Amino acid sequence: MIKDLQAEILRLKKQRDVCILAHSYMSEEICEVADFVGDSYALAVKAKTAEQSSVIMCGVRFMAETVKMLSPQKKVLLANPRAGCPMAEQMDRGVIAEVKKMYPDYAVVAYINTTAELKTIADYCVTSSSALKICRAVPEKNILFIPDINLGTYIAERLPEKNFKLLSGGCPTHAKIEREDVLAARERHPDALLLVHPECRPEVTKLADYVGSTSGIMDFAEKSQGKEFIIGTENSIVQHLQFRCPDKKFYPLSKNLICPNMKLTTLPDVYACLMGDGGEEIVLNEELRVAAVKCIEKMIEYGG
Ligand code: 13P
Ligand code: SF4
Repeated sequence: MIKDLQAEILRLKKQRDVCILAHSYMSEEICEVADFVGDSYALAVKAKTAEQSSVIMCGVRFMAETVKMLSPQKKVLLANPRAGCPMAEQMDRGVIAEVKKMYPDYAVVAYINTTAELKTIADYCVTSSSALKICRAVPEKNILFIPDINLGTYIAERLPEKNFKLLSGGCPTHAKIEREDVLAARERHPDALLLVHPECRPEVTKLADYVGSTSGIMDFAEKSQGKEFIIGTENSIVQHLQFRCPDKKFYPLSKNLICPNMKLTTLPDVYACLMGDGGEEIVLNEELRVAAVKCIEKMIEYGG
């Protein structure tokens, strides 16, 4: 059944000139039919170069908005319209405009997990894999980092030459993980390396052997000489890694590391999009798009 649906999706996407982009948190069966699977930085870069006239984004809303901002001529569908990222909705433009007045000499650096509207007030956009490189490279010494306090703290600690102001937003899924979860997982798997996402709390990242984006964690585990790994990000990554590296062992840092939003998108959603019977077409007001895309273009310029 899954194989039949996948075969039909592969046929339809070719016939209808559609590129399927999937974030690494998608299920294995969606990744198998995607043209490209990656972290949020790689997806943004790929969106610029995809040749097809339409894109189906299997991920969350800000990812589909990013594709539309970079490729306004393309038809962009969010595979499941209910898939949002709660972190992206945490801060609004009006509040950040007020904060900016308090710190006029600070550049606003926005994590890509933000709405298009919030991006219009940002000087630079970053992702988890590019934040350190970009914050280091930008000429400004003073940085107001929004919205993720954990990623911001992780970057600020590595750039003592810069001044950071942080606000207290973040990912509800990664923030659930506590130091005690790490200690318990280490006790269960004493020989395993701990790989975590920088959206985790500082007390968790401090104990990790590697901190990086979803793709960064996967690359590290695949190339590592290690044989066992505790994975401190959404649990889909545990499954993907186990498929890719059957001779290694992967354990979730916590059974609670599940992003309910990323879990919404299913293979039938992708099929429905291709049949013209599902998903949501992303429509952005042109003025908003032009204002919001600037910080993403700077991200690609500084991020490479
Ligand atoms: P990545 O940049 O690692 O893809 O992270 C996006 C995200 O939402 C992680 O929770
Ligand atoms: Fe958003 Fe967290 Fe889910 Fe990533 S894991 S999409 S940051 S809620």
